[in-house]
Amino acid sequence: MKFFVDTADLQEIRDLTATGLLDGVTTNPSLVAKTGRNFLELVAEICKEVDGPVSAEVAATDFETMWAEGCKLAAISPRIAVKVPLTPAGLKVCKGLSANGTMVNVTLCFSAAQAILAAKAGAAFVSPFVGRLDDVGTDGMGLIADICQIYSRYPTFTTQVLVASVRHPMHLVTAAKLGAHVATMPPAVIRLLFGHPLTDLGLARFVADWEKTGQTILP
Ligand code: G3P
Repeated sequence: MKFFVDTADLQEIRDLTATGLLDGVTTNPSLVAKTGRNFLELVAEICKEVDGPVSAEVAATDFETMWAEGCKLAAISPRIAVKVPLTPAGLKVCKGLSANGTMVNVTLCFSAAQAILAAKAGAAFVSPFVGRLDDVGTDGMGLIADICQIYSRYPTFTTQVLVASVRHPMHLVTAAKLGAHVATMPPAVIRLLFGHPLTDLGLARFVADWEKTGQTILP
């Protein structure tokens, strides 16, 4: 399972890259707005920090402008995954860019029917937003189960399920149980994955007991 970080904060990306556990980055207009940075410059800098796919979202909603924006974003790096909304125009852009060899991440997916459309449009990734579904009283992880089941029945569907809007570690664990290919998580959620009070307690005891031996491993 791949881990992407859902942030446009360069320092967070650098810190998480240092863990060796990061496989890519996703951004969206809201995350870019928080940085106050120039979008194109920021995306180019992010591409230098990570080896994997970097999702960068188009700003327009009409086909012609989205297409031009997508081509401009794709020219930044071959690791750019152009993010388009799950609309008829967005899927048309997806189909064209994918045919040209550009990775496309179809975002704002809230139903299995939409995920089927993204796969048919040749998307590299589809992003179902589990947290936002949970927010409105719908089972976000149930959608992931449906999409994983459907995609597994069609070997010609190469679209990877990128679980987005992840709010807590159990979203990740359930996504992994279901076989989702990727989870994109805010930095704070990734940090939560490491923690367990019994790990902290156990380590403190081992350190204290080791001190009692009076030994050192290294000279
Ligand atoms: O990047 C898309 C998605 O992960 C956004 O999450 O928390 O704003 O619903 P959230």
